[in-house]
Amino acid sequence: MIKIAIQKSGRLYDDSVELLRKCGLNIDNVKGQLKARIKNYDAEVFFLRNSDIPKYLEDGVVDLAIIGENVVKEKQADVTSLIGLGFSNCRLSIATPKGIEYSGIKSLEGKKIATSYPNTLNMYLDLNNVSADLHIISGSVEIAPNIGLADAICDLVSSGSTLFKNGLVEQDIILESEAVIAANSRSMSQKSEVIDDILFRIKAVLKAKDNRYILFNIPDDKIETVSTILPVLKSPTVLPLIEKGWSSMHTVINQKDFWNVISKIKKEGAQGILVLPIENMIL
Ligand code: PRP
Repeated sequence: MIKIAIQKSGRLYDDSVELLRKCGLNIDNVKGQLKARIKNYDAEVFFLRNSDIPKYLEDGVVDLAIIGENVVKEKQADVTSLIGLGFSNCRLSIATPKGIEYSGIKSLEGKKIATSYPNTLNMYLDLNNVSADLHIISGSVEIAPNIGLADAICDLVSSGSTLFKNGLVEQDIILESEAVIAANSRSMSQKSEVIDDILFRIKAVLKAKDNRYILFNIPDDKIETVSTILPVLKSPTVLPLIEKGWSSMHTVINQKDFWNVISKIKKEGAQGILVLPIENMIL
């Protein structure tokens, strides 16, 4: 049995459940439940507070966890981040009130900084030989300068709207973060087979997310030219149409090349272009 921790509520919850579902691990979560058995896989999912997850993982209460890299780093837990999952992207930044002069982290020498990330911030301050007075608070950090509790803050920024609403300006980014799947070393050696299987599934889901399946009709005399435009995995599939002189081409393209490729194949005479999402990609 493999035990997987995910966030109980908050930004990572929906994406974590969705990722596990796409990996074939369907969670039957009754609201408020702290643990759920996966019926179609020998696994249990634990719904935990974000900040508690690194410790549970380090202690071996759970084998794997979906967690923000920022939390793993802040808690300095002895766990290994295995794969970046591409969601919950954010940054840990220093911000100061609008209109305050700031010329780098040295400007905060001797000042008060409010944060929920004292370890990460302290490391950054030490690295820059800055000595500051840290006010550790667990939430609503952005309010601190407005109520006179701090001169600056160090907190997570995603869209930047919380900073903006509180009249703060982002200054230095001290850490970039995303959701990761992490494990402890004992589980990695004792349950390597099942962890490898889960990682294999996650990689297939992530790969599929970046790619699209496209199919289109093309005059036969353009097949060769169009083949050179398509950044294919192996070689595109070509199927003859009933209408003489025409074929259907099928392939997979990366989302980032998408519009570029579509414009080029259209110019070569591609018609009836269909673009489909891919559920999984196993290479
Ligand atoms: C985080 C963070 C900021 C906010 C930034 O809080 O602490 O307050 O998101 O996001 P934005 O740049 O998109 O406005 P979250 O809502 O995750 O809850 P928390 O207070 O529990 O950290």
